[in-house]
Amino acid sequence: MSERTLAIIKPDAVKKHAIGDILSRYEKAGLKPVAMKLLHMAKPVAEGFYAVHKARPFFDSLCTFMSSGPSVVLVLQGDNAIKKNRELMGATDPAKAEQGTIRAAHGSNIEYNAVHGSDSPDTAQFEIGFFFPGMEIYDGR
Ligand code: RTP
Ligand code: MG
Repeated sequence: MSERTLAIIKPDAVKKHAIGDILSRYEKAGLKPVAMKLLHMAKPVAEGFYAVHKARPFFDSLCTFMSSGPSVVLVLQGDNAIKKNRELMGATDPAKAEQGTIRAAHGSNIEYNAVHGSDSPDTAQFEIGFFFPGMEIYDGR
């Protein structure tokens, strides 16, 4: 079933010039970008995006990191896009991520882990709507 997921190439991966490699991995896996932008999140924007983690000990540090430089946020579309992207990403901690995954290749540690991906259909709907109005999502290819 074709579905959509929200992905973020996080500030650490943008700083390492890994945008091109990561986009290429999405495309090769059949995940088609249907909306995309580069933006530098203000800290309150990062706090709104990761509000689900508000009570976690790493919340402040995570939001400081996510607002430390520009990110690329994009909507990926394809069969089983949510699960497929989570598999491409690998485990949250790059040290535990499988060989060949994005986090194994580009993540530095459990916080600076290169990419974000929605983890469920409900999350994907919230996260896509957080960054993109419907008119900015192109589905004609
Ligand atoms: P994401 O939401 O970014 O796709 O990552 P995830 O599902 O694999 O992991 P999640 O538990 O949702 O955590 C969100 C992000 O918070 C940072 N984190 N730091 N210091 C820590 O123990 C810790 N744990 C998580 C990571 O940047 C993680 O991706
Ligand atoms: Mg998550």
